[in-house]
Amino acid sequence: MGEIGRRKFVALAGGACAAAFAGCIRFPGKASVPNVQLIGAGKAQFPIILSSNENPLGPCPSAIEAGSKSVAVSSHRYAREQRDGLIMDLAEFYRLSRDQILLGCGAIELLKIAVDVFCSSDKPPIISDPVYEAIDYFAGLKHVHPLKIPAKSHDTGHDLEAMLEALYSRGGGMVYVCNPCNPTGGVLDSEELADFIVKAPRDVVVVVDEAYAEYVGPDFLSCFDYVRSGMPNLLVIRTFSKVYGLAGLRVGYCAGSRELLGAMAGHRLWNNINQAGAAAAREALNDQDWVERVRRENKKAKQMFCAGLKKLGVDYIPSKTSFVLLSARRPWEEIYAFLRSHGIIGGRRIPSMPRHIRLSIGSSEEMAYCLKVLEKFVSL
Ligand SMILES: Cc1ncc(COP(=O)(O)O)c(C=O)c1O
Repeated sequence: MGEIGRRKFVALAGGACAAAFAGCIRFPGKASVPNVQLIGAGKAQFPIILSSNENPLGPCPSAIEAGSKSVAVSSHRYAREQRDGLIMDLAEFYRLSRDQILLGCGAIELLKIAVDVFCSSDKPPIISDPVYEAIDYFAGLKHVHPLKIPAKSHDTGHDLEAMLEALYSRGGGMVYVCNPCNPTGGVLDSEELADFIVKAPRDVVVVVDEAYAEYVGPDFLSCFDYVRSGMPNLLVIRTFSKVYGLAGLRVGYCAGSRELLGAMAGHRLWNNINQAGAAAAREALNDQDWVERVRRENKKAKQMFCAGLKKLGVDYIPSKTSFVLLSARRPWEEIYAFLRSHGIIGGRRIPSMPRHIRLSIGSSEEMAYCLKVLEKFVSL
């Protein structure tokens, strides 16, 4: 397996060769780990990884340069200066003070710390269902059972009214809001969310995960405004893994009150940020034209993919993000295995939506090929 030329790829996507090609990339057994070869951002590659909402374009050129240079020059040093520089850049970018920003080894470290610090058996997290599974997972490690509130509609992903009611009637250590929502892809009504934040009890930490915010575009109303205005119990989490294309370098960050961040800071791994990640992230933040380009390419590939789904009669949830949740009308296991046998790795099973699958938006070529495979699947 390896890189295949663009022209050959397009031909495969458009022709009957897809099935023949599938023969050489069949993976034996569901549990086996595929021989994934990473070829490089912006290039078609097999298997096509549509499982983790990575950015197919990768990071901007200046981030690649800064990361590479930092590997060559600074690998033997802990990343003190780069870390402090990144905090300074983020504080300036979001008009916050430096002690209102905390860096994490990906957003995931910050989510884990939030669960560790703010949740316990008598103060469980309150989460939506379905939602990104990190909180459920980390709570489980502490034998804490999150209170799961079914989503009101899949278009927005959360029933904020019911979550608020649960906060008052049952109590909790934190409430997790994923906006835009992974895995459904929708965005909450900003007034509804503002109302929720204002009404949430002050002794409960409201964690808003905005990992996909940049994909929505300039009209996205971020919760950073409430951090700026001094909301004491709000934590907003973001990442360089998605639109900035740096998933492999592990840089996430959160913004919140000094008190919240002070409580979390001691739980980080020491030196949780590496030289290359911090150097690349600083450049990535600085290149908002690249963010615009990624957003544009994602939108184009997503529109083409969704139009194709419509043609095939496949139901999907409209998405403002870099992934689409679609209905397989059959158990997830079947569509996952089918895609995989054709060289596509789809998203994990969602327990409360066992007949859906989430697919990341890859490059246009990858999504065109994916449509061909889905056409075969629906005709089975
Ligand atoms: C909603 C959400 N939050 C957080 C993360 C974790 O991101 P990171 O790579 O920064 O740890 C992901 C990753 O897929 C995600 O989907």
